[in-house]
Amino acid sequence: MGWIAGGLCADVPPGTVVPICVDGVDLAVWCSQKGTFSAWGDRCPHRGMRLSHGFVRGETLSCIYHGWQYDEAGSCAYIPAHPALTPPKTICAKSYLCSAKDGVIWVSLTETTKEPPDIGNRKPVRSLPFDCSPGDLGRLLKTNLHPVIVVGGSSDLALAVQPVSDRTCMVHALAAEGHDPKAVSRQLEDMRRAFEEQAA
Ligand code: FES
Repeated sequence: MGWIAGGLCADVPPGTVVPICVDGVDLAVWCSQKGTFSAWGDRCPHRGMRLSHGFVRGETLSCIYHGWQYDEAGSCAYIPAHPALTPPKTICAKSYLCSAKDGVIWVSLTETTKEPPDIGNRKPVRSLPFDCSPGDLGRLLKTNLHPVIVVGGSSDLALAVQPVSDRTCMVHALAAEGHDPKAVSRQLEDMRRAFEEQAA
């Protein structure tokens, strides 16, 4: 499937972790104190606690359950119950490609050598969940759900669609400089209302 927008950078500031879902895969997306974004399977290798419930400590993500800390590569770096132990390299969170570009957090569940998509000269405005399937959204937008879809006659509004499940999508809206964010936000809400009515 390649790169998918998994959120807006502004919604995951340094030192935070959030849960997202991409095409049915639960991920923990986190931003280190230095501002590096990572996307991992939302499951601690120890006992399976959700890593998105954890805490960012500097350049590591710490699980909330037993405090195991994972570095940016996903390798376990510290086990509080055994502070003198160097954790085996085999203890590793499942990591996915993740790249922040133009204010968008891009995630790829599969290996790719391509760069994340170009969103044109636009800025992120907001994200909104749509209560319709990715397929319905594609049909209503008359597109095959490219990573970024340009809508509207002016071509100033772009939508980065994040398939979540077979019933829901997250839509990340990006608009050209100078657009009123409130107007773009209302446009997105109107679009959602219309799409959900058509998809019902
Ligand atoms: S379940 Fe994560 S540290 Fe134990």
